[in-house]
Amino acid sequence: MEDAIMYTEDVRKQFGDVVALDGLDLVVPSHTVYGLLGPKGAGKSTIMRILATLTRPSSGRAVVAGFDVARDPADVRQVIGLAGQDASLDDELTGRENLLIFGRLSRLGARGARRRADELLERFGIAHAGNRLVGTYSHGMRRRIHLIAGLLRAPAVLLLDEPTTGLDAHSRVEIWESVRQLVDDGTTVLLATQYLEEVERLASAVGVIDQGQLIAEGSPAQLKAQLGRHVDVVVESMDHLPSAMARLERLTGRCPETDGSRIVVSAVERMPTLPLIVSELDASGAVIRNVGIREPGLDDVFLTLTGRNIKPAEPVETPGAVW
Ligand SMILES: Nc1ncnc2c1ncn2[C@@H]1O[C@H](COP(=O)(O)OP(=O)(O)OP(=O)(O)O)[C@@H](O)[C@H]1O
Ligand SMILES: [Mg+2]
Repeated sequence: MEDAIMYTEDVRKQFGDVVALDGLDLVVPSHTVYGLLGPKGAGKSTIMRILATLTRPSSGRAVVAGFDVARDPADVRQVIGLAGQDASLDDELTGRENLLIFGRLSRLGARGARRRADELLERFGIAHAGNRLVGTYSHGMRRRIHLIAGLLRAPAVLLLDEPTTGLDAHSRVEIWESVRQLVDDGTTVLLATQYLEEVERLASAVGVIDQGQLIAEGSPAQLKAQLGRHVDVVVESMDHLPSAMARLERLTGRCPETDGSRIVVSAVERMPTLPLIVSELDASGAVIRNVGIREPGLDDVFLTLTGRNIKPAEPVETPGAVW
């Protein structure tokens, strides 16, 4: 645990009858993006809020940069920045004015807050809009102001709660670029998300969280490797299905599934070469329209681990929505 900047031990959090966290153990290494991946209600925001000292664990321990969140909350607040899921901005103020309020809340001092806000507005490419009312901002610009608010105190650890939910593709890429810059500068980021693509793009380690527990952990590549690879075959005619399926089962040792003309063999541990698959299918007499070997995505990982899909609705830009 020496190179861990943050860890939790058996953290439980109960809200009345609801168990939000059910013995969560997390270890977040320094100078990385650690992706916390889970569906709605998994407990992502709850652990973020505990690490940010906004709420206390019912039991268990959480430690940030050597400080216990329950015993030394003031010390934890010195090293942590939070860009929370439901923080809101004042539409009647400019982006810069909003940041100065966050600066005051962070006890930065007026001059320090101004200097830091201007520096970050510049750095995140939004200085040109700093003096415009937030009411006129795009969704992506608002998110960047939130990100900056979390960074005013130059934290060693940034907690980012679903930073791109609801954003269009272009704004998401911009946020990802900002997060990469932060890590290059030495910040550790704990990133909660429902988007598989987001952790694949940014995180070097991923914890999959479901119903308040960590159900899997590893690099995106390790998680995918647990699953083996998939074979996809499309046959020309339904008549060819039985013989092709029988051949594929013999070849891979796994039971193929089909939805008509398409056959999928999932989680193949010892994958035959593509030329061998093609020649065996050929020998079975099946006419093949398409054949390929596919790497599983993290959505396959989630489905395998929980038996449920992790598929939030496609992000849409909702004018006027607050984060
Ligand atoms: N203040 C609260 N009072 C009561 N229940 C709560 C409270 N905060 C969270 N919960 C419950 O705890 C569980 C975990 O919630 P949490 O917000 O941590 O999930 P999440 O993973 O962040 O979900 P989402 O992806 O929707 O943001 C949910 O069942 C939620 O309804
Ligand atoms: Mg949440």
